[in-house]
Amino acid sequence: MTVPKLLNVRDFQAAAAQILDPVHADYFAGGARDEITLAENETAFDRISLLPRVLRGRPAPDLTVDLVGSPTSMPIFLSPTAFHRLAHPEGEAATARAAAAAGTVMIAAMASTVAVEEVAAQGTALWFQLYLQPDLAFTESVIQRAAAAGCRALVLTVDSAVFGSHERDNRHDFHQLPDGLHCENMRDAGEVRPIQMSPEFSWKHLRWLQSVTDLPVILKGILHPDDAILAVEHGAAAVIVSNHGGRQLDTTPASIRALPAVVRAVGGRIPVLLDGGIRRGTDVVKALALGATAVGVGRPVVWGLAVDGGKGVSAVLEILRAELEHTLLLCGYGSVRELVAGLLLLPPGEY
Ligand SMILES: Cc1cc2nc3c(=O)[nH]c(=O)nc-3n(C[C@H](O)[C@H](O)[C@H](O)COP(=O)(O)O)c2cc1C
Repeated sequence: MTVPKLLNVRDFQAAAAQILDPVHADYFAGGARDEITLAENETAFDRISLLPRVLRGRPAPDLTVDLVGSPTSMPIFLSPTAFHRLAHPEGEAATARAAAAAGTVMIAAMASTVAVEEVAAQGTALWFQLYLQPDLAFTESVIQRAAAAGCRALVLTVDSAVFGSHERDNRHDFHQLPDGLHCENMRDAGEVRPIQMSPEFSWKHLRWLQSVTDLPVILKGILHPDDAILAVEHGAAAVIVSNHGGRQLDTTPASIRALPAVVRAVGGRIPVLLDGGIRRGTDVVKALALGATAVGVGRPVVWGLAVDGGKGVSAVLEILRAELEHTLLLCGYGSVRELVAGLLLLPPGEY
């Protein structure tokens, strides 16, 4: 058998699809309902053109950013995705090793199949993604675990009043983890609690969260500019413009399309991050030129993990880093921090 050369993120996607159990491949790939947002997240980037500058006499590009207090080697972080042990036996521990090697932030998912303490032990800058649970005392105990493990920020996912409807999973009847895999952060006195969603959470619960932790709280899943303003007013340390990779409410705009209005509403008061559909270095440049401080990758990390564990995740991250640097050089920019919207030709009527 000839081993195909894996040159880009799409190659990893195709290779992962060959390796993963088809049911799990659909779990990772799928989106909500008709998967319109899922597709839009990627195609919206393709409709934006780059208008490069020439003869600018710039040095080799500087990719470093300060990511809400965590210095990173590039403006690309690992968005939280659940159940990494479905992709590789070492699961989130292997992912964390790759994040550490890349010098960037990993956001550990509450629904991790490796405990946060073991993920943190791999030495990466770690943030903890949280779904508020109706049992606030239990929620507080999870936060304390994450803080004690060394997580530097909490990422509160706010786009999930209920679970999204994934018809691929429903067709496969995929509703629980295989034997031996558990959400290790949901253990409570030996029992593993199910993760619950609730529509009853409100801004007052953000206040509660801030009262029980000193960690910065970042809100993930902001699309509406009015919510971005409320996030600033309620002391969020940053917002992540995200539609959950098209897995919650279908037919929301691509996250890149929601970005400019959020950036305007926030007005530089806190960093604005983005995830959804990042597959190329050019996508990263487009998001940064529209005002994002950094971008997250979800599925590409899982594809790398499925293909070759931590080494596969490293390969995906290094491909994106090299593409980002190459794009900056071709665009005439010497730093990711100097990107401006003038670099872009936006599709008429869309932005
Ligand atoms: C398989 C899978 C599981 C995910 N699990 C979570 C989760 O537990 N918590 C969360 O906030 N977001 C979760 N997300 C959303 C990601 O954090 C991120 O928003 C999304 O994957 C970004 O889009 P991309 O996959 O196109 O990069 C998940 C996404 C995928 C694909």
